[in-house]
Amino acid sequence: MEVVIVPDAASGGELIAEAMAELLRHKPDALLGVATGSTPLPVYEALTAKVRAGEVSVSAARICQLDEYVGLPHGHPESYRSVVLREFVAPLGLPESSFMGPDGTAEDVAAACAAYDRALAEAGGVDLQLLGIGGDGHIGFNEPSSSLASRTRIKTLTERTRRDNARFFDSLEEVPHHVITQGIGTILDARHVVLLATGGAKADAVALAVEGPLSALVPASALQLHPHATVVVDEAAASRLKLADYFRATYASKPDWQGI
Ligand code: F6R
Repeated sequence: MEVVIVPDAASGGELIAEAMAELLRHKPDALLGVATGSTPLPVYEALTAKVRAGEVSVSAARICQLDEYVGLPHGHPESYRSVVLREFVAPLGLPESSFMGPDGTAEDVAAACAAYDRALAEAGGVDLQLLGIGGDGHIGFNEPSSSLASRTRIKTLTERTRRDNARFFDSLEEVPHHVITQGIGTILDARHVVLLATGGAKADAVALAVEGPLSALVPASALQLHPHATVVVDEAAASRLKLADYFRATYASKPDWQGI
């Protein structure tokens, strides 16, 4: 696992956007897995700026979703499908047909989950999966105690996560209890997994994920099993890392051509 400590969220966004751009320069139809929430927004802004500046073409790129609320009506502005289309797919100038995600409105949720795992495999697998991290260590919506081998399935949000996400809704009551999420095993199938964490509220979760034991109680610790996992953290999110100086020195001596 590589840990890169950046000065601020914008630098993290730029670093990851450049990794996406470099991937697309070599593989124009790469499948990019994206997350929602506040953390990834600087990545989406930085990649959109690169496209507008002509530094990379995304015209053949494909985008896939990490997780989705269950039960929000089709087109609800806070469904993650709507959020990804609005914040990433549309600014990049991509058509909706470039995007795939699980169906949170399906009556048969189990079938929708299995169909999404099949669709990801048939698409050739995710090339780069961007992740945020919950204050409780979740990735996607794999809450603590999630199987580290899990596939896409329905999960119940913890009250902490529902409260964290209530800022996107008019009230806590409107936040769904259930979600479809790529499983931890599904996430680990991606060729490159990049987790971005910013702000002091993520410092404990980051330290446990990177330096703690592999544990279902900290789902993000599963990234320790991945052969190409990159954790990008700002100074505040890095503040509890015991190996911070080592991570800084390692990255500082890395040749530019190597990327992340
Ligand atoms: C969202 C997702 C979640 C978030 C996490 C952090 O698609 O998968 O794991 O990444 O809850 O959310 P923010 O970035 O809003 O702190």
